[in-house]
Amino acid sequence: MSEPSMLSDEMLFGLEPSRSPVRLRRLRRTEALRRVVRETRLNAAQFIWPLFVRSGTGLRTPIGSMPGVFQTSVDELVKDAGRAVEAGIGGVLLFGIPDHKDSVGSSAWDPHGPVAEGVRAIKAAYPQLLVITDVCMCEYTDHGHCGVLTGDGDVDNDATLELLAREAVAHAEAGADIIAPSDMMDHRVGRLREALDEAGFSHLPIMSYAAKYASAFYGPFREAAESTPSFGDRRSYQMDPSNAREALREVRQDVAEGADILMVKPAGAYLDIIAAVKQDTGLPLAAYQVSGEYSMIKAAAERGWIDGDRAMMESLVAIARAGADLIITYFALDAAAALRAR
Ligand code: PBG
Repeated sequence: MSEPSMLSDEMLFGLEPSRSPVRLRRLRRTEALRRVVRETRLNAAQFIWPLFVRSGTGLRTPIGSMPGVFQTSVDELVKDAGRAVEAGIGGVLLFGIPDHKDSVGSSAWDPHGPVAEGVRAIKAAYPQLLVITDVCMCEYTDHGHCGVLTGDGDVDNDATLELLAREAVAHAEAGADIIAPSDMMDHRVGRLREALDEAGFSHLPIMSYAAKYASAFYGPFREAAESTPSFGDRRSYQMDPSNAREALREVRQDVAEGADILMVKPAGAYLDIIAAVKQDTGLPLAAYQVSGEYSMIKAAAERGWIDGDRAMMESLVAIARAGADLIITYFALDAAAALRAR
């Protein structure tokens, strides 16, 4: 933001109240005035809608802790993709719930796994819709951690990279437009870049969950994705919520390894991180308004404690104001509808 060059507010406000020409309420008097001086505008194109896909047909299973969010089979997923196209949102982000989980998460690179099948079906029906795939092991491992385990139960960073590389290539082969690794292993952007390039996908961008915090706000997602760790937590790979400088080290590393788009996650409680990353890198920046952020607004609105639509739009505009270009949000369709109604 640039400083105004004329008389500083300090000088003007310093005058006796009756002599100061400054009255900030003048520009707030009518909606017509407010509209022309609005600094941040939301646009449907910046919304990315997360979707959960599993095998089967005709399935649309509600997630109890996320009203309005479902696990769907591929045929129902394609209907949601149609809604996304109609709403003019930026794209969708796919998460898979596999039929089979094991210690290494082998369903993650199954060319007939739910994500691969989902991508193919969406691309066949709506080739113009941007399809991003989440690359991680936690939905696919029987222990629910984001990688393979060492003998003593720690997540083995470098062994996990090889599995993520297979998963990313499987998504690319199915037709994904962007690959989005969310595992928080060190060096995964570089390893995925190398694997994608070798497999003939040097044109595919990587959107890195660069600064992803070990957050209580992921609670409802773990019901949606069936990915709650069976022991321990994710604090040895996801970031400590207390750390901001470390976020810049994380993002710089991902930039150096070739990340095309960066992400900060969660969003609402991390607006300072969004602003800092934007300033530091200048890369396209996404922010993920996670499940808990969504569910808190939904729950309070259901009880009549807040106006759900207004809280939705305020939470989104705050994320954009902090510097996010893309916003991953379960509100994507509702927010696009609200923008159209304005
Ligand atoms: C998987 C992943 C998670 C989310 C996105 N990708 C969960 C986690 O790390 O536990 C959370 C999304 C949300 O809460 O909406 N690694």
